[in-house]
Amino acid sequence: MRSRILVADRYGQSDVLDFVEEELPALTPGQARIAVKAAGLNPIDARRMTGEIRFGPLPLRFGTEFAGRIVELPAEAGPWSVGDEVLGSGGGFTHATIIDVPIGNLIRRPSTVDWPVAGSLAGTAQTAMAVVQELGDIGSLLVHGGAGGVGTVLVQLAREKGIEVVATDSGANPDYLRALGATPVAYGPGLVERLREVHPAPFDAAIILAGTEEATHASLATVKPDGDIASTTGIPAPSERVRATGNRPSPANLQYVVDRVADGRIRWEVSGTYPFAKAAEGFAAVLEGHTRGKRVLIF
Ligand SMILES: NC(=O)c1ccc[n+]([C@@H]2O[C@H](COP(=O)([O-])OP(=O)(O)OC[C@H]3O[C@@H](n4cnc5c(N)ncnc54)[C@H](OP(=O)(O)O)[C@@H]3O)[C@@H](O)[C@H]2O)c1
Repeated sequence: MRSRILVADRYGQSDVLDFVEEELPALTPGQARIAVKAAGLNPIDARRMTGEIRFGPLPLRFGTEFAGRIVELPAEAGPWSVGDEVLGSGGGFTHATIIDVPIGNLIRRPSTVDWPVAGSLAGTAQTAMAVVQELGDIGSLLVHGGAGGVGTVLVQLAREKGIEVVATDSGANPDYLRALGATPVAYGPGLVERLREVHPAPFDAAIILAGTEEATHASLATVKPDGDIASTTGIPAPSERVRATGNRPSPANLQYVVDRVADGRIRWEVSGTYPFAKAAEGFAAVLEGHTRGKRVLIF
């Protein structure tokens, strides 16, 4: 079976992206072969393309999550059948027409969850679940960059636990943040004063989803002295108080979020879809850094 795969043989802007056609090797035990219908575009994909983050050899392949149809299975495939509609985290890459994925990663696609939504949930859902589980039993949370992919899920999971949430945005998304259950505050000069105005008491914790110095300084100024400050960005923070956190693969956590998206308890936003052939447009849009919810490749 042949797959058309998005690649980059050098670092740079989205014009470095190209496609290769490859005959896939025989399917190995423990893997399912999937015809991809949708795959999320994540900041990590764009930052690997530019070379800001470097792991894996050139040529690069991209994508961490997908939704699609099973087209081939090994003899031992548990409850799965060819033709099943699934979603989850990928194996090595997901921006390709046909991919091989560990069977243990698969979640069934609910009929009420369309392909672009299904294909864009795994990374943010598992990251947001891990963050909320780590935060534990707190009463208030400051989220820097609440309108993006992780923020959209995280704010709603925190609200579900009864946590009061204040979330920052550029000023373009206050109504969106309110609809998620957060109190919006615009980032930029005067942020600490604006945070104190809406939340005079110190926050129990802060989570940084946009790796700016401002986010670290505002957290240090508004989180109680023994409060948790964590960042998912992978960008070193100018304070040792900021701990790094991120995605912890857990199909059970993904299922928890998918169930809530399927019945409407969690709102999810796909703010842009891009035909696979126009992947470069999607990568360029992600690089701008102001995605609401998630952008998605469709096949
Ligand atoms: N380590 C891991 O496993 C892992 C997993 C998932 C994500 N991540 C990382 O976590 C971060 C968040 O991911 P994401 O998918 O939510 O990203 P995203 O969708 O790009 O969202 C980032 C948000 O940051 C906001 N933003 C932009 N500039 C800002 C600034 N100067 N101050 C405050 N907010 C600003 C944007 O909102 P406005 O439009 O309102 O500006 C946007 O909503 C990224 O760095 C990503 O790479 C890491």
